[in-house]
Amino acid sequence: MSKRVVVTGLGLVTPLGVGVKHSWSNLIAGKSGLISTTTLPGYKEDGWDQITSKVIGKVPSGPLSEGKWNPNDHFAEAESRRLAEFTQYSLAASQESMTDAKWFPSSEEEQNYTGISVGSGIGSIQDTYENSVKLDSIGYKKTQPLFIPKMLSNMAAGNISIRYKLRGPNHSVSTACATGIHSIGDSYNFIKNNYAKVMVAGGTEASIHPLGLAAFSRARSVTTKFNDEPEKASRPFDKDRDGFVLAEGCGIVVLEELEHALSRGLTEDDIYAEVIGYGLSGDANHITAPPEDGGGAYRAMEMCLQFAGVKPEQIDYINAHATSTVIGDRSENRAISNLFKNNKNLAISSNKSSLGHLLGAAGAVESIFTILSIKHDIVSPTLNLDNPGGRDDDPKHLFEKFDYVVNKSQQKQVRFALCNSFGFGGTNGTLCFSKYKSQAQ
Ligand SMILES: *[C@@H]1O[C@H](CO)[C@@H](O)[C@H](O)[C@H]1NC(C)=O
Ligand SMILES: *[C@@H]1O[C@H](CO)[C@@H](O)[C@H](O)[C@H]1NC(C)=O
Ligand SMILES: *[C@@H]1O[C@H](CO)[C@@H](O)[C@H](O)[C@H]1NC(C)=O
Ligand SMILES: *[C@@H]1O[C@H](CO)[C@@H](O)[C@H](O)[C@H]1NC(C)=O
Ligand SMILES: *[C@@H]1O[C@H](CO)[C@@H](O)[C@H](O)[C@H]1NC(C)=O
Ligand SMILES: *[C@@H]1O[C@H](CO)[C@@H](O)[C@H](O)[C@H]1NC(C)=O
Repeated sequence: MSKRVVVTGLGLVTPLGVGVKHSWSNLIAGKSGLISTTTLPGYKEDGWDQITSKVIGKVPSGPLSEGKWNPNDHFAEAESRRLAEFTQYSLAASQESMTDAKWFPSSEEEQNYTGISVGSGIGSIQDTYENSVKLDSIGYKKTQPLFIPKMLSNMAAGNISIRYKLRGPNHSVSTACATGIHSIGDSYNFIKNNYAKVMVAGGTEASIHPLGLAAFSRARSVTTKFNDEPEKASRPFDKDRDGFVLAEGCGIVVLEELEHALSRGLTEDDIYAEVIGYGLSGDANHITAPPEDGGGAYRAMEMCLQFAGVKPEQIDYINAHATSTVIGDRSENRAISNLFKNNKNLAISSNKSSLGHLLGAAGAVESIFTILSIKHDIVSPTLNLDNPGGRDDDPKHLFEKFDYVVNKSQQKQVRFALCNSFGFGGTNGTLCFSKYKSQAQ
């Protein structure tokens, strides 16, 4: 019989803080995690000054007691030198998530059935840059022996599995901005199909580097219109949106077979939500641009609903991918409008208005916010949505069918929710979460 899968642990490192409590309370307080690169210490020396886009979502530096990031709070100095930053974030978020779930496998049997699935969109762009520069300017002897293992995007999974002796599936997805959704979705299927009983799953990214921002800037993917007002720069579904905000962080969940969670004494209170569906699709359209009608997004959401056994009318909330790009938001909105045309109760919002776009970590972090909105019956606001849609080719009425939760969060019963992520390369993923009830639904 196919297994039920529940979420029992959460861990976060985001531009709003280190730890679920800090990220959550800052976002409830309506804070923005976005800053200007002009405030960075190396603004001129590191070349940020040449780049046209100036807004980023950076994990704040400082002591852990204030919900900020200092590697010394998590690692001995020699150890942190061996770990790329995206891997560091993932180890910290895994520790939080596994502590929350009260699950550290100790017997050999438990280790064998606990797996890992953590990916990154880019891996370590810092190490790639530094090693390239040193090879070019100094030569062979300056290439670090650890460069390749440090940089590989599956090394977060490798390091987590070694630290916690997770000997089940050792998996890592790298599907650009859909990485987090696919990591959690694949883990859901592993448990459903009995490859593992517990999976530590998520996405991690630390690509705030002048090379990354310069490249996204040259491709005109990132915003430039709001350089002087960072907190206004990310405006999903708004007519003045002009690109995403490059951000970093990590989200890790513990997924668990329901019977396993109950057998070790967890109760309904300890279970955040149930994962009930997963859909994925390809656009077969263009390397970075979605099709106008949002066909790929439509098929991912449709497949997800079919597996979940839920009708479009039953969905209460969609945590949209909506990165604040002109065509991405439009095509996602069209896909939603088509699939949910008969849903009068649907709320849609995008966390990217306060966080920016965490690339490979986005889907995992936003899944955690979706899970929390199910647990607490609160849907969060979309900030900066002052004038929905609004372009000639983007008529306003297409953005008025649903409740976009403008400006303020709302109390709302959330029984079923979707979380979307779409990535460069034409890849789309959707997860469906529901409130956990002890009786089978
Ligand atoms: C765990 O897996 C290893 C390797 O397959 C096997 O030798 C061992 O017996 C397993 N342990 C348990 C308790 O199942
Ligand atoms: C993590 O991976 C690095 C290679 O990138 C390795 O040198 C280090 O020993 C690993 N640490 C742990 C705790 O697994
Ligand atoms: C998981 O895979 C990584 C990368 O291939 C490897 O370094 C690590 O040792 C593996 N972990 C385990 C527990 O086998
Ligand atoms: C993200 O969305 C969740 C779910 O709606 C919400 O509770 C949370 O406040 C949002 N966070 C941010 C940073 O907007
Ligand atoms: C949201 O807030 C902005 C800025 O304060 C304001 O201009 C706008 O009218 C508000 N929108 C709604 C629907 O309340
Ligand atoms: C599906 O994936 C593609 C990858 O290019 C992405 O750009 C697009 O946004 C997704 N589809 C839609 C309609 O959003």
